[in-house]
Amino acid sequence: MAHLNSHYLKLKAGYLFPEITRRVKAFTDANPDAAKRLIRCGIGDVTEPLPAAVREAMHKAVDELGSREGFRGYGPEQGYEFIRKAIAENDYRAKGLEVADDEIFVSDGSKCDCANILDILGDKNRIAVMDPVYPVYVDTNVMAGHTGAADDDGVYGGLVYLPCTAENGFMPDVPDEKVDIVYLCSPNNPTGAVATRERLENWVAYALKNDAILLYDAAYEAYITEPGIPHSIYEIPGARQCAIEFRSFSKNGGFTGTRCAFTVLPKDITARTSDGDRKPLHPLWNRRFSTKFNGVSYVTQRAAEALYSPAGKAEVAALVLHYMGNAKILREAVSGSGLTVFGGVNAPYIWVRGPQGKTSWEIFDHVLNEANVVITPGSGFGNAGEGYFRISAFNSRANAEEAARRLAALKWS
Ligand code: MLT
Repeated sequence: MAHLNSHYLKLKAGYLFPEITRRVKAFTDANPDAAKRLIRCGIGDVTEPLPAAVREAMHKAVDELGSREGFRGYGPEQGYEFIRKAIAENDYRAKGLEVADDEIFVSDGSKCDCANILDILGDKNRIAVMDPVYPVYVDTNVMAGHTGAADDDGVYGGLVYLPCTAENGFMPDVPDEKVDIVYLCSPNNPTGAVATRERLENWVAYALKNDAILLYDAAYEAYITEPGIPHSIYEIPGARQCAIEFRSFSKNGGFTGTRCAFTVLPKDITARTSDGDRKPLHPLWNRRFSTKFNGVSYVTQRAAEALYSPAGKAEVAALVLHYMGNAKILREAVSGSGLTVFGGVNAPYIWVRGPQGKTSWEIFDHVLNEANVVITPGSGFGNAGEGYFRISAFNSRANAEEAARRLAALKWS
């Protein structure tokens, strides 16, 4: 008999967002009238149309592929030179950060990259995650067999959880103990918090001292509005030796359905072999791409490249402004109702401390039943999220305003 990967059996419940979808469907099936009023502020999925610059680039690329001269089959697995260069140039070198074109690896999503990176890391690493945490970091480590079983609270043995609380601004400082891999996410999903330069300097110093690697998820970088907040981990001296950065076009260019993202893996990063030698990770990641991936479609890469044109940049700025306008409306409405809100200033997520004594899923049900608004229960992101809920600002303005009105009017007892 064939054997399955028994690590999957350790996973708790379903993945958060399908679980929310399941509960919402049960509610809308039972309440068809309420279903018509439903406003989704749960999963962080963009709502606004693709930028014109992107659509034009896609049409052009499709036409190219329709001619004998312009047709392309397999492309370079790591991404076409034109997009690797556009990314390295615009997101890094134009800002004085040293990143070479061939340190950019173009993929179909940051979620996949955050999971796939485990392929090139060993299985003896001590891994730290923020709590609350984007569930992908935890679940993929469970799947890879890097953890023990979960206890009754859903805490996996072997993982180091770094509590993110109102007291530490939802951004943990370095731990006292030694870990090998640390997932950091800033702007943070789910709390909307951002890491200050000083906090990141501490993390880079910690990583260099402890020979650790930082997995830095900056998928929401475009939403940083306050000056002085680092947009890239490579703004911190020494990060090229210890940090891998993940970025995405999902939330800035509206690519959640179109699919395109990238990893920056500097050639300076090394890790240990089982013999104790030191080897660079870049060739391993390169090899992984060549072996397990055939690249993002040409049309999509041309679409992503268009986000760096002057017209594309202006449209991205307008999209970010739109969603951050929603964030302000939602944030003010919920704060005005007497609840304590965090985030929503440098991120499209508002993190709300629920009324005393209510669990996150109780809040989820209450908001769904009474306001017909879908939010995300904080506990779905980890134990430290219990009692909180997350509101996504990805919506039309009309929906954000209506959701704000309903949330402000909600009675909690
Ligand atoms: C979220 O709602 O947390 C995001 O949509 C998840 C993701 O980007 O995968």
